[in-house]
Amino acid sequence: MYIKLLDFAVILNKILLCLEDGSELWLVGGSGQCSGHVEVLHKGSWGTVCGDLWDLNEAEVVCQQLGCDWAIAAPGKAHFGPGSGDILLDNIQCSGSENHLGQCPSSGWSDHNCGHHEDASVICSPPFACPPGMSLRLMNGSHRCEGRVEVSYNGTWDTVCNDSWDLMDASVVCQQLGCGEALSAPVQSYFDGGTGHTVLDDVQCTGNEAKVWQCVHNGWFSHNCGHHEDASVICSGLGLRLVNGSSRCEGRVEVYHANTWGTVCDDSWSIENAHVVCRQLGCGLAVAALPGASFSPGSGSILLDDVNCTGRESSLGQCPHGGWFTHNCGHHEDAGVICSGE
Ligand SMILES: *[C@@H]1O[C@H](CO)[C@@H](O)[C@H](O)[C@H]1NC(C)=O
Ligand SMILES: *[C@@H]1O[C@H](CO)[C@@H](O)[C@H](O)[C@H]1NC(C)=O
Ligand SMILES: *[C@@H]1O[C@H](CO)[C@@H](O)[C@H](O)[C@H]1NC(C)=O
Ligand SMILES: *[C@@H]1O[C@H](CO)[C@@H](O)[C@H](O)[C@H]1NC(C)=O
Ligand SMILES: *[C@@H]1O[C@H](CO)[C@@H](O)[C@H](O)[C@H]1NC(C)=O
Repeated sequence: MYIKLLDFAVILNKILLCLEDGSELWLVGGSGQCSGHVEVLHKGSWGTVCGDLWDLNEAEVVCQQLGCDWAIAAPGKAHFGPGSGDILLDNIQCSGSENHLGQCPSSGWSDHNCGHHEDASVICSPPFACPPGMSLRLMNGSHRCEGRVEVSYNGTWDTVCNDSWDLMDASVVCQQLGCGEALSAPVQSYFDGGTGHTVLDDVQCTGNEAKVWQCVHNGWFSHNCGHHEDASVICSGLGLRLVNGSSRCEGRVEVYHANTWGTVCDDSWSIENAHVVCRQLGCGLAVAALPGASFSPGSGSILLDDVNCTGRESSLGQCPHGGWFTHNCGHHEDAGVICSGE
């Protein structure tokens, strides 16, 4: 039964991707939905893409189209094993900024000089991973969402100086790590001093930056600090959990906002919303988006209502919604999710 449900989820997800404009695309044979060889749907049948001229620009478009993060690699030559069926596209040339693969020039449908040993593949980074060569982590806290801020610029883990460090800077760090909201921005090596260099100083984020190194700062490695001034953050955690299911990957959806956990109302609750929840939790695809307090009614505040994700957002809070605490619901309408992962 469980296996059947999983198959169903995969098929359902394929169908959903097909319904979106130009999203007739799927990655097969890798681990998870963000890596594998590329399969596209054309005139009702799935086929592969030839690896000629295939590089990171094409991979980037595929990753964006699938709602995965950035492209890490674009292996040709059937890296995940040869596919089967028709070879549908060849010589694809994207600039990298197209919304879907169908917008990139190619030789045309079924026009190719390839075998399946040349099938094109893509490896996208999983949600919340850091770009190659540049990463962020929190050290010496009690969980992965608090600690001393450390940035790897080029292989070594370096620290951030606490000059002009504040809650706005901390909130960019928390968002970047998928760790919910910033609760505080401790200074003076609150979680002990680090080792290595001081990589950033005088960091001044506006709060809209996706990465902490995109905030205004002094310049890489330009500082007047010692490790007794290392900056830290304490984040709320993922700010998302599933309650009262049989595993951490199913249950009533609860989100954390303004120092409180609360539920989500089922008005316009959809499989796209559920996909975002499952992805954010590292729980694979959504199998079901359940209305009507399927996992028993919660208590406390109802924090979100009228949530309308496209399915590509990296966290539920990024989806359009009616505003925090704004709803016309009771707890008998609490939203639930079942994800394919465990
Ligand atoms: C801080 O983290 C480092 C590296 O993981 C570890 O060696 C050290 O013992 C930790 N210090 C404290 C006080 O927890
Ligand atoms: C990064 O590290 C490599 C190898 O250690 C070095 O060759 C390169 O110059 C470094 N780049 C920067 C920007 O520091
Ligand atoms: C950073 O730490 C130093 C000394 O540890 C302190 O003088 C300075 O005021 C701190 N900066 C902030 C913004 O707290
Ligand atoms: C879980 O559900 C049961 C009913 O199925 C309910 O009695 C219990 O209070 C729920 N627990 C939580 C934490 O909501
Ligand atoms: C979400 O979609 C529903 C149904 O189309 C609509 O009533 C609601 O206003 C939308 N919510 C937002 C925040 O736009």
